[in-house]
Amino acid sequence: MQAEVIFLGQLRHPNLVKLVGYCCEDENRLLVYEYMEHGSLENHLFKQIPAVLPWSTRLNIAVGAAKGLAFLHDAEKPVIYRDFKASNILLDSDYKAKLSDFGLAKDGPEGDDTHVSTRVMGTHGYAAPEYIMTGHLTAKSDVYSFGVVLLEILTGRRAVDKTRPNREQSLVEYARPALRDPLRLARIMDPALDGRYSPAAAREAAAVAYRCLSGSPKNRPDMSAVVDALQPLLAAVDDVPVGPVVLFVAPDVDEEEDEKVKVQRRSRKDEQHRRRSRLRTSPKGSPRKPAAGIACRNEEFWLTVTVSEARHAIFDRLAPATAD
Ligand SMILES: Nc1ncnc2c1ncn2[C@@H]1O[C@H](COP(=O)(O)OP(=O)(O)OP(=O)(O)O)[C@@H](O)[C@H]1O
Ligand SMILES: [Mg+2]
Repeated sequence: MQAEVIFLGQLRHPNLVKLVGYCCEDENRLLVYEYMEHGSLENHLFKQIPAVLPWSTRLNIAVGAAKGLAFLHDAEKPVIYRDFKASNILLDSDYKAKLSDFGLAKDGPEGDDTHVSTRVMGTHGYAAPEYIMTGHLTAKSDVYSFGVVLLEILTGRRAVDKTRPNREQSLVEYARPALRDPLRLARIMDPALDGRYSPAAAREAAAVAYRCLSGSPKNRPDMSAVVDALQPLLAAVDDVPVGPVVLFVAPDVDEEEDEKVKVQRRSRKDEQHRRRSRLRTSPKGSPRKPAAGIACRNEEFWLTVTVSEARHAIFDRLAPATAD
């Protein structure tokens, strides 16, 4: 609690949860934080409460959390957070990420010191290997933990999951080798995203995670470099498939034209009926797929498209109307 009050009482940043107040009375301690309406990233990612986190929200959360860590590391008196994990990343009403829980935070090394020596604390699956082995704590330990959370965001898997087969229980061991191979990456991406993510942005984010998870701390980037690498990905939303899009084609008011369409429909129905009868009578026949393209009016079309394709489809249809 002391660490929480000291650090959060002094540090203010849009990506750190605000400590509103605290109270100490005999043995009783109370900390009051700003209320984070959407709870923790952990709940959203793994329990999918209330729904699957969309790709753009995941990226925004990764960037926000990275900014929070970068702020701590670059402060005049640097702070090592030490407990970076999905349950400590809280989400406000706009799904903006804020770091909470500064109970394990430590002042960074001062002067010529390269690290702080501490008793090893933190959470299994997130702590950097050199920190676990030696107790030597640096800002690069946080960078490793960030890499683990980024992996969780990409794959929808927990850092450690004992319910999975042995070789898949440790997320870093399982997923890191796949991060630089686009085909393997596609296979480990969170199935709950249902393919609705930008493959290019996912590859970039995976490359960042790969470097953060380097076994050698000096090969890990600084958090400010991580922010610089992830932030531009927020703009790359054009190649995100948005799932089924329903295009409604409104009916014209031209009655003569309407009559023609009705006649065409009737003849199309007759044709379909004839075709079905043919299929029924021909055991070798197989139903043909409907002709591609957006054909007639007053109908619905269900398409799986990317944002840019949807935009083109919509604007192509709107163009003649707006030109009038
Ligand atoms: N300021 C807050 N606003 C809204 N919900 C919060 C807030 N602080 C914590 N929570 C909720 O309480 C949960 C538990 O937080 P807590 O820090 O006690 O445990 P934890 O992060 O799951 O584990 P650990 O004890 O290792 O930190 C969070 O995951 C979050 O859902
Ligand atoms: Mg916590």
